[in-house]
Amino acid sequence: MANKLLLVSFVLSFFFFFMIHSSNADHNVIRYGAKPDGKTDATQAFLRAWKSACSSATASTIYVPKGRYLIKGVEFRGPCKSRIKVQIDGTILAPLDYHAIGNSGYWILFIQVNRISVFGGTLDAKGAGFWACRRAGKNCPVGARSITFNWANDILISGLRSINSQLTHLVINSCKNVQVRNVNLMAPDLSPNTDGIHVQSSTGVSITGSTLQTGDDCISIGPGTSNLHISRIKCGPGHGVSIGSLGRQLKEDGVQNITLTDSVFIGSDNGVRIKTWARPSTSFVRNVLFQNIIMRDVENPIIIDQDYCPNNVGCPGQSSGVKISEVTYKNIQGTSATPEAVTFECSPSNPCKGIRLQDIKLTYMNKAATSSCKNIDGTSTGLLTPESCF
Ligand SMILES: *[C@@H]1O[C@H](CO)[C@@H](O)[C@H](O)[C@H]1NC(C)=O
Repeated sequence: MANKLLLVSFVLSFFFFFMIHSSNADHNVIRYGAKPDGKTDATQAFLRAWKSACSSATASTIYVPKGRYLIKGVEFRGPCKSRIKVQIDGTILAPLDYHAIGNSGYWILFIQVNRISVFGGTLDAKGAGFWACRRAGKNCPVGARSITFNWANDILISGLRSINSQLTHLVINSCKNVQVRNVNLMAPDLSPNTDGIHVQSSTGVSITGSTLQTGDDCISIGPGTSNLHISRIKCGPGHGVSIGSLGRQLKEDGVQNITLTDSVFIGSDNGVRIKTWARPSTSFVRNVLFQNIIMRDVENPIIIDQDYCPNNVGCPGQSSGVKISEVTYKNIQGTSATPEAVTFECSPSNPCKGIRLQDIKLTYMNKAATSSCKNIDGTSTGLLTPESCF
């Protein structure tokens, strides 16, 4: 009798052990019906895997094994009951016909999902058809960002690779506490509006160890971004790192506490840029540090442009309301692809304040590059080539 009881309790505890571990186990998308052939639509299978992971009371993993998975526009919605890890060893493909994902603005969208980590994976949005449509000036759909996080907190994205996005590769919008590590985002130099990473209305975002080769901004920083730290990125080709465009709206949240350090720009149109519309606005940029940066053949290594007004439409008075202050440029060296390496074109109605230059060395064809200033006030220290113009 005692022996029997022992056996039963042994079996039971084994059973519970198994239950706990199976609830923590992989939600392998193959088990939910995905076919890794690159042809069969796996969207519903991914959604079924998401549904069980999201409703799991304990932490769970969604696993995408090696292979190619065809996915149409998809929305992974939270809130979920527990943390989710997504491990992607395979490649996720968009359909070749760009209309399939191009009508909604998003390809892969996470909404209100907290505590999610995404490891690895390649996304191929097959954007070439869409770019060709835009270049031909045809009637094209709005296009899709490849992967977007909206209203999501405590996120880690590590080792993701994304190629051929229709528009921006990775969007972080209205999020808190996001880490982006070792991502590799690529689109051809001349592909229109293929930004690498766009951050807006978010706080506590760090982007580190990443390579961004795109047709538009490597990283663009939109209204309402604070406490964003970028380090060890390699940017170019593309338009560089841009705070802005800001000040398009009259009432707009500002950008503050931004650092970009220990990075390299290669052959990009801009290095570090702040760009605002020449329109009235409540927006601002304050407390920014650009430090330890190498420029190689960059057209505008350091630039503030407050005169943005494409086609001169809708910019009454041609003066930006965006207040730019406390921006430091420290230890920035390398080569400019144009004679003027430093351009400060600040707003006549809201001059830039508290701009600091320290240890800048930028050359053009082995000679000192030049700088130009408008409506700016600040200080400079250390060795400066070009000399400060304020
Ligand atoms: C910006 O950083 C300062 C300290 O450097 C901090 O006091 C402030 O709260 C930060 N601003 C935001 C919006 O988090």
